[in-house]
Amino acid sequence: IADIKGGPDEGLDRVGKTIVVMGWVRTLRVQSSVTFIEVNDGSCLSNMQCVMDLEAEGYDQVESGLVTTGASIWVRGTVVKSQGSKQKVELKVNKIVAVGKSDPSYPIQKKRVSREFLRTKAHLRPRTNTFGAVARVRNALAYATHKFFQENGFVWVSSPIITASDCEGAGEQFCVTTLIPGSQEATNSVVDGVPKTKDGLIDWSQDFFGKPAFLTVSGQLNAETYATALSDVYTFGPTFRAENSNTSRHLAEFWMIEPELAFADLNDDMACATAYLQYVVRHVLENCKEDMEFFNTWIEKGIIDRLSDVAEKDFVQLTYTDAVELLLKTKKKFEFPVEWGCDLQSEHERYITEEAFGDCPVIIRDYPKDIKAFYMRQNDDGKTVAAMDMLVPRVGELIGGSQREERLEYLEDRLDDLKLNKESFWWYLDLRRYGSVPHAGFGLGFERLVQFATGIENIRDAIPFPRVPGSAEF
Ligand code: 4AD
Ligand code: MG
Repeated sequence: IADIKGGPDEGLDRVGKTIVVMGWVRTLRVQSSVTFIEVNDGSCLSNMQCVMDLEAEGYDQVESGLVTTGASIWVRGTVVKSQGSKQKVELKVNKIVAVGKSDPSYPIQKKRVSREFLRTKAHLRPRTNTFGAVARVRNALAYATHKFFQENGFVWVSSPIITASDCEGAGEQFCVTTLIPGSQEATNSVVDGVPKTKDGLIDWSQDFFGKPAFLTVSGQLNAETYATALSDVYTFGPTFRAENSNTSRHLAEFWMIEPELAFADLNDDMACATAYLQYVVRHVLENCKEDMEFFNTWIEKGIIDRLSDVAEKDFVQLTYTDAVELLLKTKKKFEFPVEWGCDLQSEHERYITEEAFGDCPVIIRDYPKDIKAFYMRQNDDGKTVAAMDMLVPRVGELIGGSQREERLEYLEDRLDDLKLNKESFWWYLDLRRYGSVPHAGFGLGFERLVQFATGIENIRDAIPFPRVPGSAEF
């Protein structure tokens, strides 16, 4: 359908051509001499209006109730100019085949259904306008991500999902546990939803074949090893956080894009983050016009103008110290009090991006070292580190990045200060021992980017199968 309707003439150039459409029935209107079927194949937001008279081959399948909302069909017909005002062309059907009928219990009937309700129907929600559009824009953002980095000479590196290191040092990791290795019974028997071993017990002591292992919270440390060999690299993969938070911007499993730049400092890092965000935003504005119009009308009024601004304007930059001063000066009352050294809460981030700087991305840099991770490069003041967060309206923190500590002695001292086990970082320290270079990188939460680009309020609607506390059904 996108192929027909996506052209400059919205299909008029195809009038007279015979085509086949395969998709799912959105609505059906049976009149005495003619039947209208709106069919969607997911290639775009638009349906193809199929018009069928009683002579069409297979019409009996419509009569006998095989073609209803939700059913899958195959139709062949001629593209004709539409009489209606909603579309330029429609399909005059000469043959229809009911491929898979739809039970009357189909939960997504025509009436509008809430996104909360649809979260309980994660297997069927991609058949709605909203979730179809989110899936296509998410896909376009992923494509644009690879395109941006590839065009700029970055090498894509796969970082492991199972790891022993805790990059962020926040202890928010999921443990990996092995059921008795090689035992068929171990994986095949499930009692009350819990896998059982031969003895009817789960052997939690197994870890990862006898060694402690976790699901990665970030691929950064691995990316650093490749950046200090291949220069600019990036990762793009799933990451996991065991934070028991039920907010509209946290997931237990989310995708992260993590570029790492060699021979680079914090300014290079911020410039890369800005160019990247502007590139992908421009890409969806140019390539997802129909879906973006939909979001502009139904999800967030004005999102197209807002994103067009983002694609062109310079982003505001300020230091953490200046941000704190700004928050202390405003008359606005916050739930969490602000003082130098505190972590910025989402109410503070929202004030900064949405009110102080008029709905624009803001980069805050040079955070106190005590609220940031061990690997960030210490600034000359001894109090702050070369860190940067990019905050965007509505979503808050979209990007977290930093220049990395490339000086061996500083890094060792920092690990000691934080009582982290130096031995377990032997390989990371080696990078500083053999040909160390100034380097910097950032992590961008892909679902937060989807939220930012579509206006979808809840992060659970920005990923096909959201993983949040208590939800891993399918
Ligand atoms: O700020 P974070 O924790 O930074 C890192 O993990 C660094 N190692 C990245 C790097 O420098 N290579 O996470 C980076 C981003 C956040 O800004 C946010 O967009 C996203 O990841 N993020 C989450 N997204 C969804 N759900 C969660 N629970 C998230 N936690 C972080
Ligand atoms: Mg962060």
